[in-house]
Amino acid sequence: MKDILDNAIRIARLAGNKIKEMQQDKSFTEQLKFGYELVTSADIASNDIIISEILKAYPTHRIISEESEDHNFSIPGPTWIVDPIDGTVGYANGHYQVCISIAFAEQGSVQAGVVYNPFLDELFYAIKSQGAFLNSERIRVKEVSNLNQCVIATGFPHKKENIAHITSFLARLLPHIRDVRRMGSAALDYCWVACGRIQGYYEGGLAPWDMAAGRLIAIEAGATAGHYALNTPPTLPEDIFGVNIIVSSPGIFEEMKNVLETT
Ligand code: IPD
Ligand code: CA
Ligand code: CA
Repeated sequence: MKDILDNAIRIARLAGNKIKEMQQDKSFTEQLKFGYELVTSADIASNDIIISEILKAYPTHRIISEESEDHNFSIPGPTWIVDPIDGTVGYANGHYQVCISIAFAEQGSVQAGVVYNPFLDELFYAIKSQGAFLNSERIRVKEVSNLNQCVIATGFPHKKENIAHITSFLARLLPHIRDVRRMGSAALDYCWVACGRIQGYYEGGLAPWDMAAGRLIAIEAGATAGHYALNTPPTLPEDIFGVNIIVSSPGIFEEMKNVLETT
């Protein structure tokens, strides 16, 4: 797994440098996917680098990327799960809370994850059962026991449907927490829980590429990960099942889940 991780780090840095350069030069173009979701030429450039580098190193492996065609999430064999830019809306507006997310899974279970923010040169990574790291330093979640001491992040879907339902969860939580953040990258939200900069994160619907790497990093840093208000059984392996996710410091997990579920 060390070889997989080293390659994922090398590739994330290559793609990260490319998107940083394109933001600095303002050399990217913007388009809409599905009529409502922003995608830039930097998302595509990053995708091209990541796919070609993975296939050079591991020609037989499968790759599921947000910006590629294959979105069949049955992942029995060695599979890479890639978000070439997580935080595209922020990226296009010159923000720095943007990353490349690369995970490696086998038998439906994520074994290694890399999340790289090229703007802050912050590299988060983990191998299953071997702890989580930020730029070579071991990271741990912050120890907290009351939700009212906590800064909690959330995110919203690109498709602006069911807004009253989505904001009802924020309305429930807000009176119980110190403050809320919407930073614009799910993968970095997981990593910020992992390094203690925030103490929890929840969101109604993530895709596998938003969460695969970050979730492993958060768990390896001691976070608890689960779901709130889940009415149906998971339809994907837990590591990539993004419906109503919560991740937090263990000491507030139950309280946060209860508050989100209390009508
Ligand atoms: C989005 C970001 C955002 C989250 C959305 C995701 P993208 O990914 O992670 O924080 O709230 O649900 O779709 O489109 O920037 O790759
Ligand atoms: Ca994403
Ligand atoms: Ca993306």
